[in-house]
Amino acid sequence: MSQKTLVLLKPDTIQKSLIGTILARFEQKGLKVIGLKMLQMDQSLCDSHYSDHVSKGFYKFLAGFMMSGPIVAIAIEGHDAIKVVRTMCGATNPADALPGTIRGDFAKNIDNNIIHSSDSEEAGTVEIARFFKENELFTYGRELAA
Ligand code: CMP
Repeated sequence: MSQKTLVLLKPDTIQKSLIGTILARFEQKGLKVIGLKMLQMDQSLCDSHYSDHVSKGFYKFLAGFMMSGPIVAIAIEGHDAIKVVRTMCGATNPADALPGTIRGDFAKNIDNNIIHSSDSEEAGTVEIARFFKENELFTYGRELAA
């Protein structure tokens, strides 16, 4: 089943010059990039994106980290994209993330864990709409790749 998911490359990814490395993993897997932008999160965008976590003890630190520098938002489409992308990202806590996963290979700790991806199809729809206007999302074929 084709699904859409939102990936955020967090400020640590940008500072470690890993944008291309991580984007390449998704492209090499055959997933389709349908939207891509660099942006700076503000408090209201952060509060709405992490609304489930706003009341948690770690939220103030999480928000400070997410707003500390530019991030990259990627809208991705593909077969079972929610599960495939989350499997590629690895466990939320990099200490539990297997080698070969993005967090297992590149992330330092749960506070600086490199990447976010939507945890359900419903969340993917809401999160993509939060970061992309309709005219910033693209539908295209792959005839030229053959
Ligand atoms: P993310 O997938 O972006 O979703 C919520 C984020 O909160 C998570 O990745 C972590 O970066 C961050 N976080 C910090 N502390 C915790 C914690 N104790 N449990 C879960 N997430 C945490």
